[in-house]
Parts: sequence; structure tokens; C-alpha cells
Amino acid sequence: MVEMYGLDAWVAHISGLMMPAVNLDNAATTPPFIDVVAQIGRQMQYYGSIGRGMGQKSQHSSVVYEEGRKAILDFVNADYDDYTVFYTNNTTDGINKLASALANDRDVLVVSTRMEHHANDLPWRGRAHMAYAEVDADGRLILEDFARILRRREYRHMTKYVTVTAASNVTGYVNDVHAIAGIAHRHGAKIIVDGAQIMAHRQFSMGGRPGKDEDIDFFAFSAHKMYSPFGGGAVVGRKDLLNAHVPQFCGGGMVVSVSDDAVVYAEAPDLYEAGSPNVPGVVGMIKAMEILNEVGFDNIIEHEQKLLRRALDGLSKIDGVVLYGDNANIADRVGILIFNIKGQQPVDVASELASHANIAVRHAAFCAHPYVRRLEGKAPHELSGMIEAPTGMVRASLGIYNTEADVDLFVRTVAEIVGASCARPMSAAARRLYKEQSKIPNDRA
Ligand SMILES: Cc1ncc(COP(=O)(O)O)c(C=O)c1O
Repeated sequence: MVEMYGLDAWVAHISGLMMPAVNLDNAATTPPFIDVVAQIGRQMQYYGSIGRGMGQKSQHSSVVYEEGRKAILDFVNADYDDYTVFYTNNTTDGINKLASALANDRDVLVVSTRMEHHANDLPWRGRAHMAYAEVDADGRLILEDFARILRRREYRHMTKYVTVTAASNVTGYVNDVHAIAGIAHRHGAKIIVDGAQIMAHRQFSMGGRPGKDEDIDFFAFSAHKMYSPFGGGAVVGRKDLLNAHVPQFCGGGMVVSVSDDAVVYAEAPDLYEAGSPNVPGVVGMIKAMEILNEVGFDNIIEHEQKLLRRALDGLSKIDGVVLYGDNANIADRVGILIFNIKGQQPVDVASELASHANIAVRHAAFCAHPYVRRLEGKAPHELSGMIEAPTGMVRASLGIYNTEADVDLFVRTVAEIVGASCARPMSAAARRLYKEQSKIPNDRA
């Protein structure tokens, strides 16, 4: 049984009473493990600058920081000789740095997908020629699209990359990124994988099966989605490829020498780590990986699948609830579900869940507008141009520490919202709270 920090911190219910908060918004961010917070606290006693000082604390912190790279390589089964790790603030930061290094002229083709979080789409736009693999009616990726695009005659002489998420933050589908890597490599492309939604839910391996073709070239992730706080994250990448480029993010720590008019750059990982690094972020992230390994991914999958099935079964019995995606076959999904209540706005449903049961969920379009529009069933002519953000859905996302009781409270509250028992007149204070919540910007996933 894992112990989370802050689960015993109650929040104000609409009635004015203090009550437990139920977090079903783990795809946005996860609470930290208690042992992660403790480990960061211990390490802070030996806090010092990284790679820049001869003081004992500086030396100690530098060792912890450097050793952390090996722990990450081990966690994702990456070979020390072929791969290195550079630390980032989060997945967005990592993908932006990769995009700035790899896609720096228009002779670069980037094949992304219509399933991506904006973090794995927008950094590439404007830097490269873009093409997108589509999704099917259930919202799963159409794998044949990758080869179809990469084979096109007009792309033959371009430098090619495929960039794809390991798991969707909207539907939770887990993509077969090793199969996609095989397709990419056989067509002369390299592959980047967005690992934001996979790290806490599935064992990820840079090494593919059956052979080298299925290996992943680059992998980016965030610590705050895997039970560590602070702005930690990393990119695991092939050393030879990282060293063949320079990111457009420069400053101290990434050079060997600077003259009046020339720069000799350091090699990766330093090349990608300009500026002073985030040691607590690294310490927390490494401890979180240790705990996830102790719990074991088989146990995590079993637990989260059981809760997902329970939530989907519960919601599917409620008249007026519309579920999206393939909810019959969930083996290829992490614990994420999206739904709407007919005739109600997602923002109102999310506010009611918070105010009436202290349940945190996410609503709107989850920083994945092209994907959400497709799930909403928009016609092709409604997908382009300067159009409004989609209304979207409500998203519940599960973590390792959620319980059947959390899921049951969630399902029961949704049923109450549908049955309008939550629509009884509210007190002035409750109405004010409700109104304030409705104004919170709603599209940060
Ligand atoms: C699939 C996916 N990719 C990228 C991101 C961006 O992560 P971060 O905000 O930690 O950079 C998210 C965040 O929700 C995500 O779900």
C-alpha cells in the first residue's frame, strides 16, 4: 500500500464543513508519495550547486544529480552506451528543446498524430513540415497512416521524424510505440515518444521487440505526473543524435569554451541543460521511480484496470451520461475516462462534482483540441481555421492510490447531478463559490 502526501488534508465542502478531497485528476498532476517528500527533505540538508562548486554539499548534490541519470536509464531499460538523459522542467520543456534542436529547417518532416497533447504538436509546428496520422471512430490511432505518409514521394529527400504519445491524456489509449518505431525506422525516420501519461502506469522500455528497429530514439516525461512534486522531468535520448544538434536554448553550463566570437559546445546531456538545475525535482523523481518499481507495474495495471472498469460500468448505467471512446475493450487504456451529461456543460458538471462531493476532475478540451473535436464527431470542414476551442467533456483519471470508494462516490455524484438532485437552490455562499469555480480557466491539462 503506497502512502500519499496530503490525502489527509481536508477541503471545504459546499455545506461549509471540512471534508476529504477525492482526486480523480491524476492525468493532470498526481499528489507526491510521502517517501518522495521525505527524501527531498533529507536531501535539502545537503543542498548545494550542481557541477559548479568544490564545497562538500555541492559535491554531494552533484553526485546525486549525476547518479539520477543512471536511475532513469534503468527505469526505462535504456542502454548506458547508446542513451543519455537530460533533465527538464516537464514534458513540454523537453519536447520544445528537442524540437528546437532537431527541426530547425523546412527540409524536416515531422509526422505527428491527431491524438497528441498540444505539447507534442505545437513545438514542431512552424519549425518543420507537418503531417498527421489520423484516429479512427473510437479515437485509436490508425497505424497504417504512418507508413502511408512516410512513403510519399515529396518527402523522400527530407529528414524525417515521427512524434507520438505513449498514452493519450484524453482517452487513455496506450499506443504501440514500438510498432510505430519499426515503421518509422524502416522509412528512414527517427521517433520521439511523449511519455507524460505512461510513466506512472506502464513499464516503459526504450528497447523494442523484436529488434533494434523497434527501439525508441527519444522519450520525454514529467515528474509531476508520477507522484513527485516540483518541476522535474527528463528526456532520454540517443547520444549520437543529441550530439549532432544544438538546442535553441542557451546559457551557462552547456559549453566547453566561449571566445569573443565562437562557442565550443559541450556534449549531451550538458548541451541540453543550460542554466542552474532543479535538484529537488530530480531527487523526488528518482525516489518516485524506486517506489513505482517496488509496487510493480503488474499490480498497478491490475488495480487501475479494476477501477476503470468499475467507473465505466457505473456511468454506463446512468441515463443521460454519454461516454466516449471504446469502453468495452479497455486493456489498452490507462485509467482515464471521458464523458458528458446530456444538456449540461462540462464546466458545470466539474463544478458540481467539486462543490457537492469534493471530487476533482478535469473538463473542456484537455490541451488536445484536434483530438477532442474528432471525438465530438466534428465534420472535416469543422476542424481547421481560426475556430473556437471545443466545449469538450469531463475527464476522470485514476491513480495508484484511488479506491473503489472514490469511484463509487464519483458515480453516485454523477447520478445525482443527472437526476438534478444537486440542482436544488443553493445558499448565497454556495452560489458564489460555484460562480467563482466556473470562471477558473478551464483548459489546462
Ligand atoms: C500526453 C501529454 N503530453 C504532454 C503533457 C504536458 O506535460 P507538462 O505540462 O508536464 O509539460 C501532458 C500534460 O497533461 C500530457 O498529458
